[in-house]
Amino acid sequence: MFIGEGPGYHEDRCGRPFVGPAGQFLDELLAMAGLQRTEVFIGNVVKCRPPQNRDPQPEEIATCTQAFLFRQIEALQPRVIVTLGRFSMNLFLPGEKISRIHGQPRKVDGRLIVPMIHPAAALHQPQNRPLIEADFRRLPEILAEAEREATAKLSAASPRDEEPPLEQLSLF
Ligand code: URA
Repeated sequence: MFIGEGPGYHEDRCGRPFVGPAGQFLDELLAMAGLQRTEVFIGNVVKCRPPQNRDPQPEEIATCTQAFLFRQIEALQPRVIVTLGRFSMNLFLPGEKISRIHGQPRKVDGRLIVPMIHPAAALHQPQNRPLIEADFRRLPEILAEAEREATAKLSAASPRDEEPPLEQLSLF
């Protein structure tokens, strides 16, 4: 699951997340991570476009997350959440600085949170692009590790029938 900040002009018109220039770059980043849009869920912290693209206010964030985003997470139960930008990161890793922890996965309440710099940051400041791209190129490795961990947990919870307890082996 990927979580951005909130709809911009293009998203507001279409009713879909990340369809403008930041979305085009996000598509490129997903491709670098070997992912397609159809394989991932993309959402936003706030669901309405803040006027003049200002930052979403704490009350707006609280309202939208309670009413929508947290319910989406509850319904989807993603093992990995990639946060795009500081507003999204702050929901799971409050008090952290995106410039310090971008690209570094953290375990929060049993799921992996991967804080990424917002793709739009590369549009405003092209020097951010290589950094963001490098973080996304590491995603396959992070997802594979999350998958391995989930599989290991599952088999620990329900050991396979064909692996008999040791004392039974001695019967053969
Ligand atoms: N930026 C976001 O954070 N979300 C979008 O949907 C589009 C741009």
